Amino acid sequence: MDRFRGVDVLRADQFNREDLEVILERARQMADALERGEALDTMEGKILATLFFEPSTRTRLSFEAAMLRLGGKVVSVADPKSSSAVKGESLPDTIRTVEGYADVIVVRHPERGSAEVAAEATDRPVINAGDGAGQHPTQALLDLFTIFKERGRVEGLTVTLAGDLKHGRTVHSLSQVLALYGVKLILASPEALRMPPEIVEGLRSAGVDVAETGDLKSALSRSEVLYMTRVQRERFEDPAAYERVKGAFILTRKMLEASGRDITVMHPLPRVDEITVDVDPLPGAAYFRQAANGVPVRMALLSLIA
Ligand code: NCD
Repeated sequence: MDRFRGVDVLRADQFNREDLEVILERARQMADALERGEALDTMEGKILATLFFEPSTRTRLSFEAAMLRLGGKVVSVADPKSSSAVKGESLPDTIRTVEGYADVIVVRHPERGSAEVAAEATDRPVINAGDGAGQHPTQALLDLFTIFKERGRVEGLTVTLAGDLKHGRTVHSLSQVLALYGVKLILASPEALRMPPEIVEGLRSAGVDVAETGDLKSALSRSEVLYMTRVQRERFEDPAAYERVKGAFILTRKMLEASGRDITVMHPLPRVDEITVDVDPLPGAAYFRQAANGVPVRMALLSLIA
């Protein structure tokens, strides 16, 4: 399978449906191998570098766990304050250095477009683990994998993406992946946090049925999947603007029960207060299973690319 060898993963909309099928199939194989406790060694002798210039728990650790599960090794900058970026080193210079140390490079950076900048600086494959308020393509892959696992299908579902759709890179990427699967999308957010119009236009011109609403309850009453997101405090220039919208959308157990529907609740995590903890024990609360799915999906990606 050489279609992905050496390829950069920068945006969700770089994938067509066939690409996604290949990645999902490989991820299922990885999940099965993990479940059987099989040791894999396809990445033996290879090194992954994870460069995180923004905080992360799940994305960095699941990439690293994925590489280790495949028999590879990992070098990491986990704390931006410990890298030479604080001395004023440019991202291209950092990447040109790291290419001498690793076979594949995962980058998270606060600037939108930084993954493209990193990819231009090296021939090594670069994976975007979040570029500011831009994209988070590998999260979208694990989200897609999760919907398949939880619901058995994606085609024909109504999926609500809720919360901070303006700054949330996970929903930018996920909406573009779902666009290839014939879902109905409901975009639920406060007015100030609506999905960027260029993304909505892109979805509509791809033929997706998209509805925008400010009413989470009405979205719930029509959905099979609810994807909640955190208000991205770090993306606000004006703290007062954050204060005005924080806590705008909170999902409670009562709301879910009142909907009378079997809803799969997802969240890329970290959660702040947008899902109350009494939701966690419900069978439809999938967010920690979703986080665990990061490992087989990232194993699939690394084994296809590196
Ligand atoms: C998300 C991110 O970093 O964009 N987290 C993640 O990767 N699972 C979501 C968030 O920070 O709200």
